[in-house]
Amino acid sequence: MPFEINAFVTTSTNGKFKETSRQVQELGEHEILVDLLASGICYTDCHYTGTEGLNLGHEPVGLVKELGSAVTNFSKGDYVGFSYLQSSCLTCDQCCAGDDLYCEKRVMYPGSGQNNGFSDTAIVDARFSYHIPKDIEPKHAAPLMCAGSTVFNALYSSNLSPTASVGIVGIGGLGHLALQFANKWGCHVTAISTNPSKKDEALSFGAHAYLSSKDFATPGFYDNAPKFDLILNTASVDLPYDDYIKLLKPKGQFLLIGLPSKSVNVDAFPFIGNELGMRGSLVGGRRAVRLMLEFVARHNIKPQVEEYPFTVQGLEDAFESCVNYKARYRAVIVKSSAN
Ligand SMILES: NC(=O)c1ccc[n+]([C@@H]2O[C@H](COP(=O)([O-])OP(=O)(O)OC[C@H]3O[C@@H](n4cnc5c(N)ncnc54)[C@H](OP(=O)(O)O)[C@@H]3O)[C@@H](O)[C@H]2O)c1
Ligand SMILES: [Zn+2]
Ligand SMILES: [Zn+2]
Repeated sequence: MPFEINAFVTTSTNGKFKETSRQVQELGEHEILVDLLASGICYTDCHYTGTEGLNLGHEPVGLVKELGSAVTNFSKGDYVGFSYLQSSCLTCDQCCAGDDLYCEKRVMYPGSGQNNGFSDTAIVDARFSYHIPKDIEPKHAAPLMCAGSTVFNALYSSNLSPTASVGIVGIGGLGHLALQFANKWGCHVTAISTNPSKKDEALSFGAHAYLSSKDFATPGFYDNAPKFDLILNTASVDLPYDDYIKLLKPKGQFLLIGLPSKSVNVDAFPFIGNELGMRGSLVGGRRAVRLMLEFVARHNIKPQVEEYPFTVQGLEDAFESCVNYKARYRAVIVKSSAN
């Protein structure tokens, strides 16, 4: 039986969308048709607007509506989410080691640009989809699929000790979840932000301390500044990196998560003198997403969301909130049937 997919797609105007529909004749054997209930807007989506005809969104959750012939891990009606990694070869060394995220044949969001989260329904590979615990509401589950997975994976892949001191730079969609995860990890957590009006909420999310990056310029600031074993940079801008590197303890690590617009240039001497490290960190593969969902359910981690209707207008308003750094802390489009 053919399916009709109604999606919101980008137009040539930044932040503007239109509705389209297309027919799909049948599901591939490993595919599921998902009736979407909620979809978060990540800052990464903002990088793709202005190109005509893309169906965006990589924080979707919904209910399984139809199953391909070889699907064994889902049943109709199951609560499901999908994330940034859309498929991998499943047989290479990376895939066999659980590092499917780094498979040479991986397909990452936005993939074909046709089967993503700002859509009534989506067709996805069941092997790259996740069972969502039932007591997490769709609007709270959606931001976990990218923002939650990304910051969880960054902490998990850092082999973080619970005695570590962690700084989270940028208290937005990713950052406000990173505060919650790092607190539950047992670490001492500091929110590092450009916006002092976020201080109280940052503390309520689990930060033990708040540091304003505006204070970096105060004479003598670094004499008494706190020092971190790990800094997660989730700011969506180019930073004066050396100012942040000075906050690392010897052997400390700086993780690049927020996307810079140009090459990252840093002073090499602190890296050599104190054996510092800087590395990138990418969303999460299937193992990390599953562990993240288990961790969230156990520790009752909950994104703070701004809710918008699941309509073109709702999506445009949600985008505007995201792109202007107004969202507190994740804009999510939600179908009324999901509440
Ligand atoms: N590596 C990955 O796998 C991955 C995955 C998802 C997203 N990302 C990237 O991660 C970044 C964050 O995404 P998001 O959805 O969390 O975005 P977001 O909700 O907009 O948060 C970004 C935060 O950056 C901070 N910021 C804004 N302007 C700044 C400035 N001039 N100087 C310093 N900080 C500034 C703000 O925090 P304060 O107000 O607290 O300063 C803002 O809340 C984006 O670049 C996104 O593309 C990467
Ligand atoms: Zn994202
Ligand atoms: Zn592979």
